[in-house]
Amino acid sequence: MAILKIASMGHPVLKRRAELVADATAPEIVRLLADMAETLDDAGGVGLAAPQVHVPLRVVICEVPAARLRPDEDPEEAMPRQVLINPTIEPLSDEIEIGWEACLSVPGLRGAVPRHTHIRYRALDAAGRETAREARGFAARVIQHECDHLDGILYPMRMTDLETLHFVSEMRHNVGLFGDETPADREAEDDTA
Ligand code: NI
Repeated sequence: MAILKIASMGHPVLKRRAELVADATAPEIVRLLADMAETLDDAGGVGLAAPQVHVPLRVVICEVPAARLRPDEDPEEAMPRQVLINPTIEPLSDEIEIGWEACLSVPGLRGAVPRHTHIRYRALDAAGRETAREARGFAARVIQHECDHLDGILYPMRMTDLETLHFVSEMRHNVGLFGDETPADREAEDDTA
């Protein structure tokens, strides 16, 4: 296993559409998944997509520990660490929620991003089995953020109010920006994906 270097906004690998994985159980994918897990553990955060480690393949790992949910979210909406290979997303409602996001590829910054609140996602797992699950709230947000990486989209490209983009080091000035979804609710590094 190895800790991989993380690409920052501006690197071409983050702008291109990632390729489908032909064989989810191929040795190079097994190795990639192990290295991505170690990289995520080292960097902290709730998700990592393969393009963020310079690999243009449709591979994501993500998790939402119960401790990272907002107080108003159902603890059952925590998400154990999962591997998503060739994932697709289908919104299950028209409801959109604006919430804070940060990204390991956009270090130091944080912004408010609209996302679907309820999705179904399908993917292959690490054993190559097809899976279909639903996610709500923050878990749904994380999956949408990660899958965007596979299509060359970074969260600032989804922002509808660039006034909310700010350095985490200045976040104390932004508490109460909207509703109860304030930086005080959750430590900044917890949002990083
Ligand atoms: Ni990200």
